[in-house]
This record gives sequence, structure tokens and C-alpha cells, in this order.
Amino acid sequence: MNNFDDFVNNLQEQIYDEAKDAYGEKGFQRWRNPKYNGQITSPDGHARITGECGDTMEIFLKFENNRVKQAAYFTDGCASSAICGSFAAELAVGRDPDELTDITGDAVLKEIGRLPASDQHCAGLAAATLQEALGNYMKEIK
Ligand code: FES
Repeated sequence: MNNFDDFVNNLQEQIYDEAKDAYGEKGFQRWRNPKYNGQITSPDGHARITGECGDTMEIFLKFENNRVKQAAYFTDGCASSAICGSFAAELAVGRDPDELTDITGDAVLKEIGRLPASDQHCAGLAAATLQEALGNYMKEIK
């Protein structure tokens, strides 16, 4: 291995260590493997919200028998917003509308376990977008 490879490997390890400190093991693994990332064509519920930080979160929900069969998030935001969107989508899967209302920013934070204090609003953004996607679904089925 040459010096440049060493440099890159050390740098990557340092970034990983910092991410583990910031997000905990669970959040770190999700950052490395952002499950539920993407878009769903013809969702039953969808919302897009731009937070005060300027980042945009989208949530897509597909229902079957009034329960979320498929969920996805899409964001142009920071690592924390991606982790929060991913866990919000994960929490949504399998739930009916009533149960979905329990997914608050605090619930998302609890699921992750740890997030830097300065990024905790990202969980609020993910939850708010999920609730708006649910609201849009409810309007459609009325
Ligand atoms: Fe605002 Fe991450 S969503 S900084």
C-alpha cells in the first residue's frame, strides 16, 4: 500500500469514528446503509417539506388494506436528515393511520438512540413530513 492509500484509509477511519460518536452504532449503520431511500411511483400519500435549515424532506407512503405497505424518504439534507428520514420510513411500515400519528420527532429520535443536539430538528422535519404525507392520504380516501 502506498502513502496515498494510507492517507485515504486513515481519513475514512477518522470520518467513521466521528460518525459513530455523533450517531451511535445504530445511526452509523443506517448512515452507511440508508434503507428506504428513494422515491415511490404513484404513492398513496406524499409530502415534501423544506425545513427552516433549508433542507427538503420528502416522504412517500403506499398503503394496502389501510396499512403502510411501502415507505420511502428522499432528502437533499445532511446525514442526520437522511438517518431521520430512513427511520421515519421504517417506523411507518406496517402501521395504520392511527398508529402513524404516534410517529413524532421524539419517536424518531428514540428509535435512532442518538443524534447531535444541533441536528435534532432533523427528526422533527422527518416526522412532520410523514404526518403531512399521512394527511394527504387521508384526504384522498375520504
Ligand atoms: Fe436540517 Fe438536517 S434537516 S440540518
